[in-house]
Amino acid sequence: MTLLIKNGTVVTAERTFAGDVLIEGETIRDVHPGIAAEPAHQVFDASGMLLLPGGIDAHTHLDMPFGGTTSSDDFETGTRAAAIGGTTTIVDFAIQGRGTKMRDALDTWWKKAEGKACIDYGLHMIVTDLPEAGLEDMDGMVREGVASFKLFMAYPNVLMVDDATIFRALQQTSKNGALICMHAENGSVIDVIVRQALAQGKTAPIHHALTRPTTAEAEAVHRAIAMAEIAGVPVYIVHLSSEDALNQVREARDRGLPAFAETCPQYLLLSLEDMQRMPGFEGAKYVFTPPLREKQNLPKLWDGLKKDNLQVVSTDHCPFCFEDQKALGKDDFTKIPNGGPGIENRLQLLHHYGVNAGKITLNRFVEITSTAPARIFGMWPKKGTIAPGSDADIVVWDPKAEHTISAKTHHMRVDYSMFEGFRVSGNARQVFSRGELIVDQGRFIGGAGRGRYLRRAARGGAWS
Ligand code: URP
Ligand code: ZN
Ligand code: ZN
Repeated sequence: MTLLIKNGTVVTAERTFAGDVLIEGETIRDVHPGIAAEPAHQVFDASGMLLLPGGIDAHTHLDMPFGGTTSSDDFETGTRAAAIGGTTTIVDFAIQGRGTKMRDALDTWWKKAEGKACIDYGLHMIVTDLPEAGLEDMDGMVREGVASFKLFMAYPNVLMVDDATIFRALQQTSKNGALICMHAENGSVIDVIVRQALAQGKTAPIHHALTRPTTAEAEAVHRAIAMAEIAGVPVYIVHLSSEDALNQVREARDRGLPAFAETCPQYLLLSLEDMQRMPGFEGAKYVFTPPLREKQNLPKLWDGLKKDNLQVVSTDHCPFCFEDQKALGKDDFTKIPNGGPGIENRLQLLHHYGVNAGKITLNRFVEITSTAPARIFGMWPKKGTIAPGSDADIVVWDPKAEHTISAKTHHMRVDYSMFEGFRVSGNARQVFSRGELIVDQGRFIGGAGRGRYLRRAARGGAWS
């Protein structure tokens, strides 16, 4: 089938222009103004609309066992909500069980996605264990298109690994071209502070945030970048939350090091002060790691995005229902499952509070939500742009559509929204994934299981 999207304004990371988009099957064939419609073409009129490359959320946790429970969105509900919000690709995290092969985790996560994923998906591998044979296991993952690994400097006794493990993984990437993603917080120091707080009877959700100083994040970011520098490889810091941590990335980049970082909407739009205002146990809705920071950090993160010291905005979507999952920590904040929902709202929030507020340009909006993650994680130019040869993942974006974010109307399988009541202008009107119309006027009309696993290339953009 040939589809012609006419009269839209195409927005890429580089430019904004009036252009028609010709799609044959799953692929974009041509993009320029005035493409003549032929009788065989199905014509879609996008007058007054922006045409954006499908959003790429490079950090999601669907159907993930964590904190004694499992994240509440599975690959069907999570990717459906993502699509409705204009995201056509995610990169989720498989977790290697300690003492087991990464291969087993990959099989498990493929099964979780099978028959469910509504959009295309890649996988990162979380490394919890790296014996000598594990290095070959890493190379095997790269051959399967798992071109990135996440290692944790936090969550002692659960996911945290030591510096030797991190350094060996980093060194191995110089051979296999993968990218190491670091959860950078000094977990051992935080653990001491947490125990002291509990001993003093500080059990409420706010103490999750108060026991995780920004210096513990900055120290770990510094250490991660230093280890990558010694290994001579790039590194990517996930969910960076504070000015202190950002300063470490900026200093490294100023020295010419290939250090990259993402932040998330919650760190750009919510603060510790907001959490402090929450009555009773409500603060549990905002228990994620790293935590919300004091409000003076927020403009610094926006500035980091503008100046390219932060390259990507992902969601770290890791939803747990308030009523029966967050409640596990009613008497002890350390038992609140860490994570929050957001996969559906990323584009709406960044368009409104970024572009409409004059903090970032439309092109930068496309870059941080689609093009940069595609490049960094080895999916470009198949994903992340509107150009001949690319997958026809296109969001017909109505820049004027008004929407109020609410748990009452969202599509994520979770009983609260972190952005309840936020009013936004700009929303996805239609979403095409590989040429198929999967969202129309806020309604998902694609099928579960249509999403394909993406084999991502090693030596992606972080290496060049
Ligand atoms: O609190 C969070 N961020 N939960 C998800 C796991 C992680 O560290 O990314
Ligand atoms: Zn993390
Ligand atoms: Zn995460």
